[in-house]
Amino acid sequence: MPTLSEIVTIDGPSGAGKSTISRQLAKALGYTYLDTGAMYRAVGLAAQRAGLPLVESVALAALLARLDLNLLAVDGDTGVTLNGEDISAAIRSPEMAMIASRVSALPMVRTYLTELQRRIGAQGAIVAEGRDMGTVVFPGAPHKFFLDASPAERAKRRVLQLRQQGRQVDEPEILAQIIERDQADSARALAPLRPALDAVIVDSSHLDIAGVVALMLGHVKRTGQGAP
Ligand code: DC
Repeated sequence: MPTLSEIVTIDGPSGAGKSTISRQLAKALGYTYLDTGAMYRAVGLAAQRAGLPLVESVALAALLARLDLNLLAVDGDTGVTLNGEDISAAIRSPEMAMIASRVSALPMVRTYLTELQRRIGAQGAIVAEGRDMGTVVFPGAPHKFFLDASPAERAKRRVLQLRQQGRQVDEPEILAQIIERDQADSARALAPLRPALDAVIVDSSHLDIAGVVALMLGHVKRTGQGAP
């Protein structure tokens, strides 16, 4: 398990602004941004395409064993390839978010991705974003944040983001999906969504992106290790 000093973890529910903030914080620190949600989405897409039910099975284990999943840093963003195909756009739909949430409750999927994430983390200098970065994957990370915001605020932001991508979305439906996904991510037995005991909890409901990044950057620099 990496105990490297250069790991920053950012956990929290969907729509709290984790991706944008993690990306900007990584850039400010000169670190690599690790989007672990994209990994769960990629596994969900692979399972869906293979026509597998989203439960543990020998077939799912075989699929994981031959999965060729790669994350590429593209201009500070995450490009994802699955068996050589660029699936970066395909994994971003609300449907894939729900499928990712379902596969993320499966122990064999978590074991597989936790190991992959630790291998990437072993190279150091990463900002790792997800649900269990500070609690399970990198418990020894020196800088842990838990980013939260009210469900209504998160729904509003997600709707804006999806509309900017040209998707037709309905705000009450997105809010219902956010609440359902929070519930599923927090209630699952394995690596549930919760702050690490030593995480700094940041509520972004009334802070803008720049404010949150400045607060985190200040904390990382003040607490020493890992600062550039
Ligand atoms: O962050 P995201 O919306 O792209 O994540 C998609 C789903 O993946 C989310 O519902 C929960 C799951 N996930 C997880 O269980 N653990 C992580 N470290 C990252 C994501």
